[in-house]
Amino acid sequence: MTQTLTALLDKARHTSELTYEELLQLLSLPDEQIPELMAAADEVRQNTVGNQVHLRGIIEFSNYCRQHCCYCGLRADHSTASRYRLTPEQIIDTAAAAAKTGYRTLVLQSGEDPLIPAETIAELTREIKKLDVAVTLSCGERSYDVYRLWREAGADRYLIKQETADPALYKCIRPGHTLQERLQCQKWLKELGYQLGSGCMIGIPGQTVEILARDLQLMKEMNTDMSGMGPFIPHPQTPLKSGTTGSISMTLKMLAAARLYMPWLLLPATTALASLHPKGRELALRAGANVIMPNVTPEHVRSMYQIYPGKLNTRDSMTDYYNRIKDIVESEGRTLATDFGHSMHPAFQL
Ligand code: 5AD
Ligand code: SF4
Repeated sequence: MTQTLTALLDKARHTSELTYEELLQLLSLPDEQIPELMAAADEVRQNTVGNQVHLRGIIEFSNYCRQHCCYCGLRADHSTASRYRLTPEQIIDTAAAAAKTGYRTLVLQSGEDPLIPAETIAELTREIKKLDVAVTLSCGERSYDVYRLWREAGADRYLIKQETADPALYKCIRPGHTLQERLQCQKWLKELGYQLGSGCMIGIPGQTVEILARDLQLMKEMNTDMSGMGPFIPHPQTPLKSGTTGSISMTLKMLAAARLYMPWLLLPATTALASLHPKGRELALRAGANVIMPNVTPEHVRSMYQIYPGKLNTRDSMTDYYNRIKDIVESEGRTLATDFGHSMHPAFQL
C-alpha cells in the first residue's frame, strides 16, 4: 500500500534504505508536492554533507569523438560539426589560470578522441597535479591498462555516466555497446581507487519512471561517489532530434530522491538544467545538489562543444564567471568549499 508523502519523507529523513516502490512513489509525485520533497532533500543534504558547494572547473580539451551515441551532437556521424583539439600547452595554461582563480578540482573532458595518445593525457595529469588541485578525467571508455596509467599519473576521479540503467534502452541509444561494458569500466575505475562519477540523462525517448528508479538503484549498487543527472535536450543533428526535452520537474525529483537515497553523494547542479531554466542552478541547489561545474574552456573553442543545443555559454572572464557562481551560491545561503571536495561515500578512503 502507498504511504502518505509525509510518512515516506519522515522515513527518508531517518534512513536512506528506501525500497524500489518508495523511489517510484517519489518520482511519480505530482508537481504540487515537489516542494515538500525538495525540502526533505535539502534537510538531509544539510545534515549529511553540509552547507558547502564544491566547484569543478571543466576544460573541454577535444570535441573529436569516435562514438555514435544517438543523443549527442559530438557523435562521429555529425560530419558538419566544427572540431577542435587544444594543445597540451593550451590545456596546461587554462588549468593554471583556473587554479589561480580558485578552482580546487579540474575536470579534463573530451570525446573519445582516437588521436590523443593515452600517454599525453597521463602527462597532462602529472603537470596539472603540480597545481595542487584534484584531477577528474572524463574521456570515455578505455582499457583497464589505460585507466591504470592515468590513475598512476595522479588522476583522482573519473566521470563516466551509466546514461540509463535499462540494458535495452542503453543498446538503442549507444549502438554497438552494452550497459554491461559500461559497468565493467566503472568497476575497473573503482578497483583502481578512482572516485567514480556516474549519472544519467532524464527524459531520453523510451525512458520510464520505472527505469529512473532503477537508475538510482544501479548508482547505489556501483558505489557511485558523484552523480550528474541532467535533462535530455534533443540535438537537431542526431537520431534523437525529434525527442521531447527532458522535464525540469523530473530532474528536480531525481536530484531530491538521489539525495535521500544516497546522502553522501556529490550531486551537481548540471549545466543542462541551467541551460533550460534561468534559475536552474538555484533550483538544483534547493533540491539537494552540492556541486557546480563551471566551464573554463578557452573562449575561442567553447561554443564548439555542442553536445546539445543552447548549452549555457558565457562571455565573462574566468574570474568574473567564478565570482558570478559564488554570488549564486551565497545568495542561496550556501558557502563555497575551499578544500578538494573529495568523495563523502562512507567507504571512501584517500
Ligand atoms: N542532452 C543532455 N545531455 C546530453 N549528454 C550528451 N548528449 C546530451 C543531450 N542531448 C550528456 C551525457 C554525456 C555527457 C557528455 O553529456 O550524459 O554523458
Ligand atoms: Fe562521444 Fe561522449 Fe558524445 Fe557519446 S556522449 S558521442 S562518447 S562525446
